[in-house]
Amino acid sequence: MKDLRIAIHDRKGSFSDRWIEYCKERHISYSIVNCYDSDIITKLKDFDVLLWHWDHGDPKAILFARQFLLSVENMGIKVFPNINTCWHFDDKVGQKYMLESIGAPLVPSHVFYDKKDAIDWIETTNFPKVFKLRGGAGSSNVSLIKNQADAKKMVKIAFGRGFRANASYFSDFSTKMRKTRIKNDYLGKIKRLLPSLVSIYVSNKMRAREKGYIYFQNFIPDNKYDTRITVIGNRAFGFRRMVRKNDFRASGSGNIDYDLSKINTKCVAIAFEVAEKLQSQSMAFDFIEDENSNPLIVEVSYCYLASAVQACNGHWDKDLNRHEGAMWPQDAIMADMLARIDTKKQSK
Ligand SMILES: Nc1ncnc2c1ncn2[C@@H]1O[C@H](COP(=O)(O)OP(=O)(O)O)[C@@H](O)[C@H]1O
Ligand SMILES: [Mg+2]
Repeated sequence: MKDLRIAIHDRKGSFSDRWIEYCKERHISYSIVNCYDSDIITKLKDFDVLLWHWDHGDPKAILFARQFLLSVENMGIKVFPNINTCWHFDDKVGQKYMLESIGAPLVPSHVFYDKKDAIDWIETTNFPKVFKLRGGAGSSNVSLIKNQADAKKMVKIAFGRGFRANASYFSDFSTKMRKTRIKNDYLGKIKRLLPSLVSIYVSNKMRAREKGYIYFQNFIPDNKYDTRITVIGNRAFGFRRMVRKNDFRASGSGNIDYDLSKINTKCVAIAFEVAEKLQSQSMAFDFIEDENSNPLIVEVSYCYLASAVQACNGHWDKDLNRHEGAMWPQDAIMADMLARIDTKKQSK
């Protein structure tokens, strides 16, 4: 593997922190590249691998990351995330079609691109329903719509001035502050969080308003938690996130239960099957359960909190055997990338 050329886009606080550590620990050489450079394609010509952990917090990346990464894949370079892994990222509307097309157990989801179609449906369906914008995290753009009248108000906004899509800084902020148990540390926390709050504020301002569509899911009642299963290759990591007090939403609550014995392994099996069908390199699934404990997917994502996955202290393989021991998801991603290239090189 000595002649392997690895390019990493370095974004502090992203998966690249650990990818760089991984290479250093194993004396694997790598180069830092800047995917925003206009001549990046020329610069990448002699590389075998490119890793770039871009996410919804960066409006610049959203403008071109998918198109760019697919172009790099077409040069014969192994990329993370590849297009199968990221085309549907931060896009719950896209995920609806994707999951329906392979018969995955998605929470029944409804999307309308015309005001009249939306109103007609609202007048015949039952409530409550869950309203979501196509993007967002930490439950920031998810709300319960209790009746027809409230749903119609949302339609008016969706086909009028539109919604401002919020990155999750307020929910994240309140969660992080709540979890600060040492009273005197509030100021310290605010100071540490300030730079990320400023960058989220700037990125929110850059985002266009969400309009011209409306998306609802059936409300699946009585879920006290959601189950987050993260599949990377032949590994599935799992934990449960408790819903907030007096709320139905778990995502962003910060209240995680790592007790693996409480995880419905049907979620693990479904996650493996769906990830394989979609040919995804890495995919986090959020599951809730119906009244018969059947898991239903609410959304999928290739971006997630790596430290929460690492804290799982074990994972399942595809035969649902348990393997003990913590692992950084970034290490698993990198190991899979290098293994694939190595096999390819050896077969030449
Ligand atoms: N259709 C639904 N019925 C009941 N609860 C839901 C439904 N959809 C989402 N939730 C709850 O709301 C949370 C946030 O929803 P999700 O679609 O995962 O949004 P986000 O992208 O903000 O994480 C989930 O973690 C889950 O607890
Ligand atoms: Mg979620």
